Amino acid sequence: MKEGTVVVAETERLVIRALSAQDVPVLAVALADPSVMRYSLRGVLSEAQTAEFIEWCIGLYRERGYGPWALVEKDSEALAGFCGLSPELIEGTEEVQVGYRLAPQFWGRGLAAEAVAEVLVLGFQQFALPVIAAIVEPEHTASVRVLEKSGFKSFERKRFHGRNVRIYRQWPACAAPASHNGSCDPTGFPAGALESADQVGRSVDMELRSAPFGGAL
Ligand SMILES: CC(C)(COP(=O)(O)OP(=O)(O)OC[C@H]1O[C@@H](n2cnc3c(N)ncnc32)[C@H](O)[C@@H]1OP(=O)(O)O)[C@@H](O)C(=O)NCCC(=O)NCCS
Repeated sequence: MKEGTVVVAETERLVIRALSAQDVPVLAVALADPSVMRYSLRGVLSEAQTAEFIEWCIGLYRERGYGPWALVEKDSEALAGFCGLSPELIEGTEEVQVGYRLAPQFWGRGLAAEAVAEVLVLGFQQFALPVIAAIVEPEHTASVRVLEKSGFKSFERKRFHGRNVRIYRQWPACAAPASHNGSCDPTGFPAGALESADQVGRSVDMELRSAPFGGAL
């Protein structure tokens, strides 16, 4: 691990750390791959756009403490992709969503679910988020499965930037596997939950509302 690396957490196979400008070349290869960006609003990114994305992440770390983080495979020390938390405008209200993208050579080994599980713990425990959302197109079966494996159960069907999506939400009780007894699987959305998300929205820096990457990656 390079000097100055900001490690956020570790899982069995991954180090979750802050992204830095040094990650641009490797992440840019992944984010220029059509298979990685198939389910994204922006499509493939140029290296300059990846650099812009990482700058945006660094701004989020500074202002909120969280953002999309780098996933580094412990065995190979290779940058596998990113997973983390970011603000997203959902029907005019800002919420915090979990997002993830891995380079294809890292798919199919359970790494995304491993990362999402840890990011949810960070979101609920370290950052005390009242609710975490996840937006996915129903046809994206691998990503739907990642969310299911990470404890997301309830979803709403919505139109989002012209696409049919599922908006999943998870609340803190669901984040702790030891206490996960199914009671956090509401059939609808608890009345308090969206209010809480609205409270998050009110404290948001207005500049972030127009962030070019909110949900667009
Ligand atoms: C989606 C993505 C994150 C999954 O990463 P991953 O590390 O392969 O995910 P995991 O191995 O943790 O879990 C994938 C699950 O989906 C299943 N799956 C994979 N492809 C599938 C398919 N075509 N149909 C059905 N299930 C599929 C796997 O079997 C696995 O479930 P299982 O553990 O029950 O067998 C990865 O493919 C990726 O980065 N894609 C590009 C970026 C992206 O689309 N991000 C999400 C945007 S919403």
